[in-house]
Amino acid sequence: MDFKLTEEHLAVQEAARDFAQTELLPGVIERDEHQKFPEEQVKKMGELGFLGMMVDPKYGGGGMDTVSYVLAMEEISKIDASASVVMSVNNSLVCWGLEKYGSEEQKMKYLPDLTSGRKIGAFCLSEPEAGSDATMQRTTAEDMGDHYLINGTKNWITNGSSASVYLVIAQTNPELRHKGINAIIVERGTPGFEIGPKENKLGIRGSDTHSLMFNDVKVPKENRIGEDGFGFKFAMSTLNGGRIGIASQALGIASGAYELALKYSKERKAFGVPISQHQAIQFKLADMATNIDAARLLCLQAAADKDAHRDYSKSGAMAKLFASKVAMDTTVEAVQIHGGYGFVKEYHVERLMRDAKITQIYEGTSEIQKIVISREILK
Ligand code: CAA
Ligand code: FAD
Repeated sequence: MDFKLTEEHLAVQEAARDFAQTELLPGVIERDEHQKFPEEQVKKMGELGFLGMMVDPKYGGGGMDTVSYVLAMEEISKIDASASVVMSVNNSLVCWGLEKYGSEEQKMKYLPDLTSGRKIGAFCLSEPEAGSDATMQRTTAEDMGDHYLINGTKNWITNGSSASVYLVIAQTNPELRHKGINAIIVERGTPGFEIGPKENKLGIRGSDTHSLMFNDVKVPKENRIGEDGFGFKFAMSTLNGGRIGIASQALGIASGAYELALKYSKERKAFGVPISQHQAIQFKLADMATNIDAARLLCLQAAADKDAHRDYSKSGAMAKLFASKVAMDTTVEAVQIHGGYGFVKEYHVERLMRDAKITQIYEGTSEIQKIVISREILK
């Protein structure tokens, strides 16, 4: 087994690192403080090919593998997890879902704009009363012959106000339970579709999270993705890959905090020596480095499974479960290594600590990842 990255992988990694340093780092603290969406930066991500990395070039994508995507997600998340969640949703939920399951017309119509960043996508599964228990969809998509009539509310939607293309999961045949659910493309501006106020969040504050309201929203039948009743399966199998994206985001948050803590520990002196010479600090750094390497291996394993067309629901869930814990643990220790300076904004680690928490919640909480993993190992 060769653990070496290819030249192409290294080039993607370097391009993402450069982009994060030059375009995302300036202003990241201000965007977090004022909950400002990284609009210009996301536009540039589109121009550089970071928004449709794995999509076939014939739809405007980069035609890259999932390993490249993990590497880019890690680099961008080291600096700005608000920007990287936009990237993750657009790449691995919206573009991937459309490319894998959409009709040729849908792909031609939506993917070129989504891969280039001219438009951004959103993935709308969660509801006020259906988060982990995702089959309990209350949003309805009534079959009206040539169109669907959508009614209901979606909650916590990333890119809620910045997106133009929304993949909406809704119930058409309640008596069929999850087999009656559909996935439907809804365009921004469709009459009856309203965007609720922005959530005021603990972390990833630059990302815009909104509830969405659907009031007799009329959508043509050709906007349904896949066969009638395929919507829940669509959501679950899309999330399998989405979880690799969020695992890589968590990995990036952890490695960003570790790099800052390592540097700071060599600069800061206490008791006449750099604090990196105190064994208590050395052991923290050793734990961080070990956990981060293990998290990276799990992310790359899941990506390699996906690229090789092996099942990746378990490896993706394991990567997300583990990397999100590593993100939490590492950022807390990075703040500790910074002492009082870690508690103020200009040292970045407090933001990374706040950003880390969401990786244990969205795209399936850690408890849900354990359900996914245990079902796989017990079956
Ligand atoms: N991959 C493919 N199919 C899957 C699947 C998976 N990982 N998990 C379930 N399914 C399929 C099952 O095979 C089953 O299909 P059949 O009936 O045809 O066999 C169907 O889905 C129903 O499965 P279950 O009976 O297992 O359903 P359940 O009610 O017990 O719950 C669950 C399954 C795993 C808990 C699921 O509800 C779940 O994943 N919940 C978490 C929801 C989630 O991750 N939300 C994320 C929202 S998006 C987001 O958060 C984006 C962001 O932040 C940026
Ligand atoms: P609940 O499901 O109510 O869970 C509450 C607690 O109970 C959790 O700890 C959970 O793990 C635990 N729990 C629930 N069921 C079980 C069980 N069976 N066994 C053990 N423990 C259990 N959703 C989207 O569709 N699209 C998005 O773009 C999106 N972006 C988001 C962005 C942010 C910032 C946030 C906060 C959320 C986002 N979400 C999005 C929603 C997210 O996926 C849900 O919050 C998540 O799935 C959990 O659902 P819930 O909040 O309803 O919690």
